[in-house]
Amino acid sequence: MRTLFKGGTIVNADATGKGDILVDGERIALIGENLDVTADKVVDATGKWVIPGGIDPHTHMELPFGGTFAKDTFESGSRAAAFGGTTTIIDFAVQPRGGTFRQGLDTWHEKADGRTCIDYGFHTIVSDMRDDLLPEMDALVDEGVTTFKLFTAYPGVFLSGDDAIFKAMKQTARNGGLILMHAENGPVIDVVAADLVAQGTTDPIGHGLARYSIFEAEATNRLIRLAQAAKAPVYFVHMSAKEALNVLRAAQNDGLPAFAETCPQYLFLGLDDLGNGFNGSKFVCSPPLRDRAAGHQEELWKGLVKGNLSAVGTDHCPFDFHGQKEMGRGDFRKIPNGLPGVEERLDLIHHGGVVEGRMTPNRFVEITSTGAARLFGLTKKGAVAVGYDADLVVYDPNRRHTLSASTHHMDVDYSCYEGLEVQGGSDVVMSRGKVIVDNGQWLGKPGDGKFVKRERSQFLR
Ligand code: URP
Ligand code: ZN
Ligand code: ZN
Repeated sequence: MRTLFKGGTIVNADATGKGDILVDGERIALIGENLDVTADKVVDATGKWVIPGGIDPHTHMELPFGGTFAKDTFESGSRAAAFGGTTTIIDFAVQPRGGTFRQGLDTWHEKADGRTCIDYGFHTIVSDMRDDLLPEMDALVDEGVTTFKLFTAYPGVFLSGDDAIFKAMKQTARNGGLILMHAENGPVIDVVAADLVAQGTTDPIGHGLARYSIFEAEATNRLIRLAQAAKAPVYFVHMSAKEALNVLRAAQNDGLPAFAETCPQYLFLGLDDLGNGFNGSKFVCSPPLRDRAAGHQEELWKGLVKGNLSAVGTDHCPFDFHGQKEMGRGDFRKIPNGLPGVEERLDLIHHGGVVEGRMTPNRFVEITSTGAARLFGLTKKGAVAVGYDADLVVYDPNRRHTLSASTHHMDVDYSCYEGLEVQGGSDVVMSRGKVIVDNGQWLGKPGDGKFVKRERSQFLR
């Protein structure tokens, strides 16, 4: 099957130019001006951009959390991602406590294989970092699961001690893997949260009030120093606080290999969203949404523009308001943590980044695709280039549309951005040579997506 994209403006992280693209099978075969070639299908991209398919490095399909499961399956979540212009996700395979990393990986393969509509990779969530598992980390890195998420949050569930984190970091310093960190001070947050509940604050706002931004900064600083001592790189997931970003900036200025992502919710939503009675439970995630007046959002945008933040992930972890978020009525500590967002990432970042004048189209592509590809070893993805996977999006930078639960494809009963009008939309989405979304029409199927064995990080070579 040969597909020709005609007349578009190709936007890569490092360059923009007019050109046609010939896709042959699963790969990009030829790029040039006014290509005179035969093709089975022609996609007219006149007046539009052609960008590399989005890469979301942080999703949680079917994550068990707080006595329930994130609602989107690999099928529904990956389909929604595709509608939003994302053609690769990296999801988190959870090690069962007391079990091995491989058991977690096997479980996640059972959930995802044959069901996912776009390509996918896995990180490992480390629930229980034991010495006997250190050699297994080496094996996983060699098998393309090169990244391990550890937590200084969620005591009794995912929290690891500093000693365990340090050992894992030392192991990746040897084997070329990368430690991802959820940086908050979980035990101290629990103290503040218990005080709030004792004083009568049981609504969702308590979640935001308990999790101080300086707790994120404290953990970020501690982890950077542990990584420095271990001579290992470190990547912070879902950075939300300006104080944490400042710690990261200082480390980067000192030449340390410290990296981070942020998420759309920290750029668009705020602590006030948690404040509308129990409706605020829709916005409960960790780290929490921050006080808009304190200026976190503009600092995070600056971090994205200047390169301190390398990628935008969604931390997509959707729970229905009815029946799931409601498990925390009367005690905010029981609300399942997480928000939907895998579908809206590109359009929100395009709108807030490019349309509102903060960044170039190239940087938009870099933080939604290329940056994650390079950091996470997706060596055939993240660019419109000959020989690369034909993951392509015909993106209309002018189309305006309104985000709503009534039109989104995620399997969740609300949208965090209900009624928000954004500019920019994915018209045609191709995944490894197959058009799976064509102007709102779904042409993909479960199992089109393949597991991607990732290389070691290209940022660290
Ligand atoms: O609230 C969140 N972020 N839920 C998903 C788990 C995590 O910490 O990423
Ligand atoms: Zn986390
Ligand atoms: Zn997460």
